[in-house]
Amino acid sequence: MKILVTGGTGYIGSHTVVELQARGFEVIIVDDLSNSSIDVLDNIAKISGKKPLFEKFNLTDSEKTEAFFKLHNDIRAVIHFAAFKAVGESVEIPLMYYRNNLVSLINVLQGMIDNNIRDIVFSSSCTVYGQPDQLPAREDTPVQKAVSPYGNTKQICEEIITDTSITANVRSILLRYFNPIGAHETAFIGELPLGVPNCLMPYITQTAIGKRPFLRVWGSDYETPDGTAVRDYIHVVDLAKAHVIAVERLTGGKGKKNVEVFNLGTGNGFSVLEVIKSFERTSGVKLNYEIKERRPGDIVKVWADTEFANKELGWKAENDLDSMTRSAWKWEQALAKKK
Ligand code: WQD
Repeated sequence: MKILVTGGTGYIGSHTVVELQARGFEVIIVDDLSNSSIDVLDNIAKISGKKPLFEKFNLTDSEKTEAFFKLHNDIRAVIHFAAFKAVGESVEIPLMYYRNNLVSLINVLQGMIDNNIRDIVFSSSCTVYGQPDQLPAREDTPVQKAVSPYGNTKQICEEIITDTSITANVRSILLRYFNPIGAHETAFIGELPLGVPNCLMPYITQTAIGKRPFLRVWGSDYETPDGTAVRDYIHVVDLAKAHVIAVERLTGGKGKKNVEVFNLGTGNGFSVLEVIKSFERTSGVKLNYEIKERRPGDIVKVWADTEFANKELGWKAENDLDSMTRSAWKWEQALAKKK
């Protein structure tokens, strides 16, 4: 069974391709390589023994997308990752985010409808909840007005898929990720942030390897046990495995509604300082960090209610925080060796 993975050379996409291949799926990746490297294809093959099919183009190009779906008329389902995802950048260049993230999804959905492909798994984010009033965040926790154009594109994409599946023959699963971190145990694939990382984990490992002088901890005066913000960090491999289960649920006709939403987290919230302590424990490296002002737009705390995904998907995150920080460090060290 052939699965299209858009954005498949990216961080979560590449880990998902590895898990799909391990389950016997054939994978074709479409990626414009604007935020990832072509080397990822060979690195996936080093793990799975099979290089995925690959086509390089931007999915906002409707002619190319239409031609692609016509050519590959044996695609059985789609996992759609392709999107820009830097919260801060989205505030600076909102139009690029709306065009890229919305038009690429629209073209993918059109290609599916024109070629009778029914099933799509969509990469969404817990960012749609903003700062929930109640914790843990459940799938029916109210979606709040997005605080960034990036978060807004995720909300609008969920609505586009929902509206499309009412009339067109489309079945979808929306996966709302909490904070994906870590890397595959082989360290052949991992997070490859271009330029200065926005996210915590790559900034920690780049500081520890000596690429950054120190980590800035954004705020220590939050209403949390140690004053630093709390997030539900989830190992990227656990997240990848959930995508395979979601594809099998759709293609096996086991979905109970045309649109299903699942929170993908561990159910545990950890603060920035707790992540730093875990990293120091697993790497043996004393991290150089300084407490700074809060980062605008940050929420205080969020973690997932994982009951629905555990029950309905039969999926549960297996990796604890130490295995996440250990794998992130192993990946950063492997990157340094490649230089
Ligand atoms: C986590 C915590 C920071 C960097 C965002 C998006 C989300 C997803 C993941 C794409 C916060 C603190 C961070 C640093 C720090 N992106 N931090 N120093 O903001 O929870 O989520 O990235 O899918 O959609 O919203 O993740 O890793 O940026 O921050 O103190 O150098 O680490 O303030 O408390 P975030 P993050």
